[in-house]
Amino acid sequence: MFLTHLECSACGLRHDWRQLQNLCTGCGKPLFATYDLVAVGKVDCLKQSSFQRRKKSLWKWRELLPLPKDGELISLGEGGTPLLQSEKFGREVNVDLWIKDESINPTQSFKARGMSVAVSMAKYLGAEKLSAPSAGNAGGALAAYAARAGLEAHIFMPRDTPRANIIECREVGAHVTLIDGLITDCGAEIAKRKEKEGWFDLSTLKEPYRIEGKKTLGYEIAEQLDWKLPDVILYPTGGGTGLVGMWKAFDEMEKLGWIDHNRPRMFSVQASGCAPIVRAFEAGEKFAAEFPNAHTVASGLRVPKAIGDFLMLQILRESKGGAIAVNDDEMIQTVREVGSKEGLFVAPEGAACFAALKKLRAIGKIDSGERVVIFNTGSGIKYLDVFEAI
Ligand SMILES: Cc1ncc(COP(=O)(O)O)c(C=O)c1O
Ligand SMILES: [Zn+2]
Repeated sequence: MFLTHLECSACGLRHDWRQLQNLCTGCGKPLFATYDLVAVGKVDCLKQSSFQRRKKSLWKWRELLPLPKDGELISLGEGGTPLLQSEKFGREVNVDLWIKDESINPTQSFKARGMSVAVSMAKYLGAEKLSAPSAGNAGGALAAYAARAGLEAHIFMPRDTPRANIIECREVGAHVTLIDGLITDCGAEIAKRKEKEGWFDLSTLKEPYRIEGKKTLGYEIAEQLDWKLPDVILYPTGGGTGLVGMWKAFDEMEKLGWIDHNRPRMFSVQASGCAPIVRAFEAGEKFAAEFPNAHTVASGLRVPKAIGDFLMLQILRESKGGAIAVNDDEMIQTVREVGSKEGLFVAPEGAACFAALKKLRAIGKIDSGERVVIFNTGSGIKYLDVFEAI
């Protein structure tokens, strides 16, 4: 294993990976896993080409992930998802469009990636009871991986979370509590009770390993595009683990000499009813204020306040990308448009990126012929209540 320590993303303070850790003990910001990449680079059998020969799976990047050799790998077959070329939608907006289809992961969303790694590490380090607030898909993924690991899962979700997510959590044996409020209220409830209950808190970016699972999105698209990153990435952003994780992967790959220093312009796509990052980006702020009265059918985007806000804003600016909001009607219409053009029943969060692409083309933020990657982070099948209601 090449993991050396955990480092605070804000103040740089080092922490020991051999203990269960949440936020930085110095400043309360997220911790990042740090690896000895020089040592990885020196091992002959760990060249780019050897990773390429391995079977498709998140865990093929094992040496760039945290679990020690004697750790139990909690896996349900996550990662290694297809990068599909969009034929019709891309041609119509005149870009070279690719869709990373994350809906085929276990529990039908990209949340499986983060939970596979985080639950493996939590079990290795002795946690027995796991808890997380969830907008829906993260809860389903945690429930499944905790069951697989033989650990308890305590999941707090807003009462109006899509039914499929709630039922899924219960059916795989999680303890589900529904809260009259938002994901931030769910997080506050966990914070209040976790010490007494003995829960290890797996909230987004409040432990260091979900982001490690999500970063494999970055490794995979680099490999799938022959180690040349696209011009633009559109990513539906709630808590931001995917965005922050991919950026971390790009840094690691550059240090390994796998890619050059060119980076995609990263765009955060949010819902008009909950767009804290868009607001903060436009206002030139370093942190994002809590978004009042958050509402959107894209439950994964209903995150009014994210602890990783400053990291997302830094990435959007450094990459010369941006942030854009899409309203619910546009998302729902776009689900059908993408479905009928590409044969994919995408989640509203994924559809938001397609709608955002049209807008960004219209205002000249993306040029014709540029290579664009869109993340369809989940499956429309989890949102039947949304489609039944129209
Ligand atoms: C389908 C879907 N897309 C996007 C997101 C936002 O993900 P992140 O927290 O990585 O920004 C979520 C989060 O719940 C989700 O379920
Ligand atoms: Zn710190």
